Amino acid sequence: MKLDIEYIRKQFPAFDQKALMGQAFFENAGGSYTCKPVIDRLTRYYNERKVQPYAPYEASKLAGEEMDEARERLALVLGVATDEVSFGPSTTQNTYVLAQAFGQYLKEGDAIIVTNQDHEANTGPWRRLADRGIEVREWQIDSETGHLDVQDLNSMLDEKVKLVCFPHCSNIVGEINDVQKICGVIRSAGAYSCVDGVSYAPHGIPNVGKLGSDIYLFSAYKTFGPHQGIMTISRELGMKLPNQGHYFNENSLYKRFTPAGPDHAQIAASAGMADYIDDVYKHHSKGNDDALGRGEFVHDLFRDHEEMLLQPLLDYLSVKNSVRLLGPSDASKKAPTVAIALKNNPEAVADELSKHGIMAGGGDFYAVRCIEAQGIDPTHGVLRLSFVHYTNKSEIDKLITALDNVL
Ligand SMILES: Cc1ncc(COP(=O)(O)O)c(C=O)c1O
Repeated sequence: MKLDIEYIRKQFPAFDQKALMGQAFFENAGGSYTCKPVIDRLTRYYNERKVQPYAPYEASKLAGEEMDEARERLALVLGVATDEVSFGPSTTQNTYVLAQAFGQYLKEGDAIIVTNQDHEANTGPWRRLADRGIEVREWQIDSETGHLDVQDLNSMLDEKVKLVCFPHCSNIVGEINDVQKICGVIRSAGAYSCVDGVSYAPHGIPNVGKLGSDIYLFSAYKTFGPHQGIMTISRELGMKLPNQGHYFNENSLYKRFTPAGPDHAQIAASAGMADYIDDVYKHHSKGNDDALGRGEFVHDLFRDHEEMLLQPLLDYLSVKNSVRLLGPSDASKKAPTVAIALKNNPEAVADELSKHGIMAGGGDFYAVRCIEAQGIDPTHGVLRLSFVHYTNKSEIDKLITALDNVL
């Protein structure tokens, strides 16, 4: 089954905007276009339901029901229980709150493991636990390949380690880590896992239940939705960690780690992310799968399309002498988040690319440690070219032609 790319692009109003026409979007890892069902729900919410939710009058009832619907339907796709899903202002904020909770829960002498492959969001707040007497160990990437080796993790685990934080996919290296295997290793060692899925989820929302991570985080605004951070936390862990919300809400798992007041409209509009998955499924399959199965089908559809487009770009970059391709050059191992190191200033190159109708960016992308560990000066940074399933072949051709002109 091939992705019907014409159909897909019709689900994103951005492709019909005059202001964006003629420009191919290659900064999706920074934030994706928003799908129509999300925009429709957000508009409806602001027009018809912008009242305090969960009261008995009609507009309020509908507002509350739509917020509940978002959590229920996303939980089904993620393969977790409804109350194991919560929304926060961003993934950075969600990890910050979780780190506060672990700071209260862990005892002096306990250890945690973080990586230097992560975006700062899933490493900085955890490293600060050192101030509270927690030992912080760093699972390091290979400086040539950017790869995280599970053997290295194995040798770092012992009875002191209570938590391991790592990315599903780095926003620079792009390699897809074997989350299921890594979480198995962590669990066997008696520790909890916290997985940053921000750079993975836009390429297909994963079945978190199957992956087996205790915490999984991703950002809706990079996954065709509104500007929210979405987090799953297992009931077992979530009820054990100290509550970070209002004391009288402590029995609501989904309120325990989001002390910020909820953004009602954006939470409600997130149900549109589930609508989109269902619409794509219905368009491509005559099957009768449940929400989890529909999510897995759409995940595979996206991944196949992305891999098909990604390999020629990686082949082109791998043999180009003037650039260093970071991470794997095999599309089956990588999300289409392609960072390259260059002698020229990456931001100036991105500026040049914009004159060829390519929207891309240069810099450190808040993955300073990861860039540094690969021997690159983070103040110089890298050029990043990232796409998702709605990208088409002619945009990839256009990118390669533009790179040929500019590099
Ligand atoms: C891999 C990764 N993790 C975490 C984050 C932080 O997400 P948010 O912007 O929702 O705080 C980002 C943002 O770019 C990211 O790329």
